[in-house]
Amino acid sequence: MKKLCLLGLFVSLASQSVLADNLPAPIENKDAFISNLMKQMTLDEKIGQLRLISIGPEMPREMIRKEIAAGNIGGTFNSITRDENRPMQDAAMRSRLKIPMFFAYDVIHGHRTIFPIPLALASSWDMDAIYHSGRIAAKEAAADSLDITFAPMVDISRDPRWGRTSEGFGEDTYLVSRIAGVMVKAFQGNGANAADSIMASVKHFALYGAVEGGRDYNTVDMSPLKMYQDYLPPYRAAIDAGAGGVMVALNSINGVPATANTWLMNDLLRKEWGFKGLAVSDHGAIFELIKHGVAKDGREAAKLAIKAGIDMSMNDSLYGKELPGLLKAGEIEQSDIDNAVREVLAAKYDMGLFKDPYLRIGKAEDDPADTYAESRMHRSDARDVARRSLVLLENRNQTLPLKKTAKIALVGPLAKAPIDMMGSWAAAGRPAQSVTLFDGMTRALGADSKLIYARGANITGDKKVLDYLNFLNFDAPEVVDDPRPAQVLIDEAVKAAKDADVVVAAVGESRGMSHESSSRTDLNIPASQRELIKALKATGKPLVLVLMNGRPLALLDEKQQADAILETWFSGTEGGNAIADVLFGDYNPSGKLPITFPRSVGQIPTYYNHLSIGRPFTPGKPGNYTSQYFDDTTGPLYPFGYGLSYTEFSLSDMALSSTTLNKTGKLDASVTLENTGKRDGETVVQLYIQDVTGSIIRPVKELKNFRKVMLKAGEKKVIHFTITEDDLKFFNAQLKYAAEPGKFNVQIGLDSQEVKQQSFELL
Ligand code: BGC
Repeated sequence: MKKLCLLGLFVSLASQSVLADNLPAPIENKDAFISNLMKQMTLDEKIGQLRLISIGPEMPREMIRKEIAAGNIGGTFNSITRDENRPMQDAAMRSRLKIPMFFAYDVIHGHRTIFPIPLALASSWDMDAIYHSGRIAAKEAAADSLDITFAPMVDISRDPRWGRTSEGFGEDTYLVSRIAGVMVKAFQGNGANAADSIMASVKHFALYGAVEGGRDYNTVDMSPLKMYQDYLPPYRAAIDAGAGGVMVALNSINGVPATANTWLMNDLLRKEWGFKGLAVSDHGAIFELIKHGVAKDGREAAKLAIKAGIDMSMNDSLYGKELPGLLKAGEIEQSDIDNAVREVLAAKYDMGLFKDPYLRIGKAEDDPADTYAESRMHRSDARDVARRSLVLLENRNQTLPLKKTAKIALVGPLAKAPIDMMGSWAAAGRPAQSVTLFDGMTRALGADSKLIYARGANITGDKKVLDYLNFLNFDAPEVVDDPRPAQVLIDEAVKAAKDADVVVAAVGESRGMSHESSSRTDLNIPASQRELIKALKATGKPLVLVLMNGRPLALLDEKQQADAILETWFSGTEGGNAIADVLFGDYNPSGKLPITFPRSVGQIPTYYNHLSIGRPFTPGKPGNYTSQYFDDTTGPLYPFGYGLSYTEFSLSDMALSSTTLNKTGKLDASVTLENTGKRDGETVVQLYIQDVTGSIIRPVKELKNFRKVMLKAGEKKVIHFTITEDDLKFFNAQLKYAAEPGKFNVQIGLDSQEVKQQSFELL
């Protein structure tokens, strides 16, 4: 009741300003409300709304508040607690028109409770789990006064050299699009205006994952067909799911930076797709138009960006500095500015902030006594989602699960690595609250734990790489070396291995190796750790590799050396417990790769759904003049969709309900899935379709549906998929989205390579 009254007060406070000239503009009528407000805004107040600033620990708060009260700032990011944001909102309420601020943050895979990195979430192929992770992230972020996130990141990535591969959901258009929609719905819940929701702004629009050579911030050159068919659908899916915002990519597209790209921002996004939300530039991107070489100075950069439809400028001052002069000189129109302001105000409206500027900030007396309190975390949810995201790559002689009675040597630089466990973009997650593999295994083993620990190696022996990884955090370096000589570390680990029944080695990348600005030329596990693995292998003890990494690695040697390999990515706050659950068999792994693992970096790209070619390589028939590298085996190390379980699954009796399909009809594709092993378990049944002959070349196969299924040991189930004409549509040479009559192969498998096939004809 009390809360209701308070809410009423805010409504009247906020409405007062817009009703000042006595024009009726009920807050219920969004368009009228905003138009009326805009009529009262000065040019400076309008331009102030377009400014999004980052709040750093070093920034003078008093000055920021003054700027806000003067109407010079529209929103902030990186200030992430209620007591930090409340004074800023108070300042906004002191401004002439009392336009509320919004508070943004990169809530990517959790807020305080960190869930697995996005690539790992995708590995779960579990839409409920992914939704759940996003919903909890939104609730925690909203409870900390945040209104909007720069997520989901849905850039298709087919080049694992790109460090931001970790932040996306993999290589496949269909899977990433599905997840894009799920994440938007999870963040926005019952609506971006709900107190426990945050607005989603999908990024990085567009094609950021296709940067040349996997080098971050680089150029993208891509045919319209490939864009429409492969790279654009995930952004579209996020927008169709209702994403309130879009963050514009830092890269150029076919010669024009996204931030100045009127085709991308106006013709495609707003006109073709009907997007009505907020477009935010990425960090400093308007200024970077000068560096790109399309603007000669800040004035031209601001002009290009506002003309392209970039509403808010993130962390550069060019709009404030240049827009008034540009307008005066007639180089831009008032409507260019007004359109942008309207989007900012509309987004604030949609976040529920005009009705209640303190919707997520709440009242001071309700602030949590301890922001980091355990009671504010969602540990069991994080553990559950993390378990679902682990992918078992190898398991010779049933090395896993481990017996709790075994004497285990735990080695490797990632065994006690709380920061790395969270992965990059770990929002407000605290390393002190994350469970390392050592912690998780120790807990699982209980009082009788015979775990022997030795570090065994540093992340890297390359000082230059180490310095690079620590370049942003000199005060408290993230990657800390054990100063002992490498051989001493290895000897200690070998001794531990010899004393044990089985060795678990936690190896891979530090989280900073798979991050923004962390492109690699080499996908191997760093040499220091490979030396360790070699020495462990030489002990003859069963060797389990627990991989932590944010991109596919080249694991040719490790595949041979290890008895078991568990891909754990960076699995979040509860990672150590989740991994221990799988290692000891308390959870049966069910993850599947959302991205192909190459044999070597030279094979890139290796995505499974490549176009058909005139001279394909045929396994078993090498010979010359087919498409292959002659100096290595053709094909990936681990294909898209691959992952093992502690039980066995088989597929049989694949059938189609008909050999023909009418344009308006439906076809049933079915297969019998059987758990032929001794344990209950889950797997992912995947449906691929190949359009055999088209007016343009079509991919060798494309994922079109999937189902994650739990079966008891010995249980059988017939799995059905419905195929309609919609599943067969593609963009033709005229960029028209349509299906073409002819033959289609339907493939069902437990990965993208080993499949059963049947065919039908679209009439
Ligand atoms: C990144 C964005 C991020 C922004 C704000 C940029 O460097 O490219 O993904 O949202 O910073 O933190």
